This record gives sequence, C-alpha cells and structure tokens, in this order.
Amino acid sequence: MSENKKKIIVGITGASGAIYALHTVRALLVNGVEVHFVISDYGAYVIESETDFSLKNKSLIESFREKFGDAVLNGAIVKYSNRDLAASLSSGSFKTDGMVIVPCSMKTLAGVAQGIAGSLIERSADVTLKEGRKLVLVPRETPLNKIHLKNMLAASDAGAHILPAMPAFYQKPSTIEELADFIAGRILALFNIEAELFEPWQK
Ligand SMILES: Cc1cc2nc3c(=O)[nH]c(=O)nc-3n(C[C@H](O)[C@H](O)[C@H](O)COP(=O)(O)O)c2cc1C
Repeated sequence: MSENKKKIIVGITGASGAIYALHTVRALLVNGVEVHFVISDYGAYVIESETDFSLKNKSLIESFREKFGDAVLNGAIVKYSNRDLAASLSSGSFKTDGMVIVPCSMKTLAGVAQGIAGSLIERSADVTLKEGRKLVLVPRETPLNKIHLKNMLAASDAGAHILPAMPAFYQKPSTIEELADFIAGRILALFNIEAELFEPWQK
C-alpha cells in the first residue's frame, strides 16, 4: 500500500441504499484513496438484494473494476471482517484520514451513539471519534422515531457529521446513479476531496 494515499475506513451496514455505498467506494478509489472496507452481515445482504454487485467474485477491487471500470485502480482496498475486533482498525495507533458509515442503519447508529464498539464497524467509529478524526454517518430510515433522532444528536454532539441519505433534486437527476453520486460527492467533500460528482447549485 502506498504511504501517501489517503486512508479512509468505509463501513457498510444493513440499511437500504446500498448504491450509496458502492458509489462512495467507487469515487474514493477513483480519487486514489486507500479504502479500508468493513461490511456487516446485513450490509452484504442488502447489497445483494438491491444491486447486481457481487461481493463473492474474485477480489473486491476486481468486482469494483468490473462494475465501474479501470479508474478504480487508482485506489486500493483492504477488506476486514466485521467480527475481527483485533484488526488494526480497532486501535487508534492505526492512523487514518477518517471514516464513513454508508448507509448507516439505525442499529449501528445506536451502537456508535452509545459507544458500544461491539463490531469492527462500531469500534472503528468509536476510535475515529476518540482520536478526533472525521466520522461521517449516512443514516437511512424513514420515518424517524425519537430514539433515532436522539442517537443522531448524541453522535453529532460527540463529533460525528450526520449526512443523511437525502439527495437534492435541483440538478434534475434522471438516473438513480446521479442521486447516489450526489451523496457520494457530499461525503467526499467532507474529506476535502473535490470529485465533481454533481453540479453545485447556481441561481
Ligand atoms: C432489505 C432490508 C432493508 C433494511 N433497511 C433498513 C433501513 O433502511 N434502515 C435501517 O435502519 N435498517 C434497515 N434494515 C434493518 C437492518 O438491516 C437491521 O436492523 C440490522 O440489524 C442492521 O445491522 P447492521 O447495522 O449491523 O448492519 C433493513 C433490513 C433489510 C433486510
């Protein structure tokens, strides 16, 4: 792995909107990021039920190359088991440029907000916050109950950025890929990566 690539942890959990995760990982890879990839069991289930992306084929980077083309080879992927709490990501001494959980289920949101750290995704988020690094949560549920809202506030108070899976329509999207790119672009912008994935609003 290259020393000068940005290192960003991507946690994928079992909320609807798997396409947001795929487009975020694609955009990070195209922009030369080393993606540290952790997916929950239900994250994998939802990717399989909502998309044609295969998590089982060959290597993961090869699956991204097959779906999105050679530009993803600008980056790199390291995959971890969500059960492996002894992985490097579990420790603050493993330096990263931050973490995004996309999409973020209400269960994982609760785990992050309450500091449960019971899976590698939750533990990595906990470490990201304690080390003062950037944590972006992309929650997806509707409607929201008071517990969801309180957990978002608690996570925000602890330093997380709440970036709901709530695309805008002012760019007149004609495909769901454009909607996914809008969210991916917003996520990358929080990591100071200008990927031009959507047209900024202009009057
Ligand atoms: C097809 C499907 C769609 C789901 N969509 C959502 C969702 O949009 N938001 C959510 O919070 N949970 C959703 N769930 C429920 C979560 O997957 C479930 O709470 C799970 O325990 C989350 O675990 P994880 O955060 O470890 O992935 C969905 C489950 C399935 C099977």
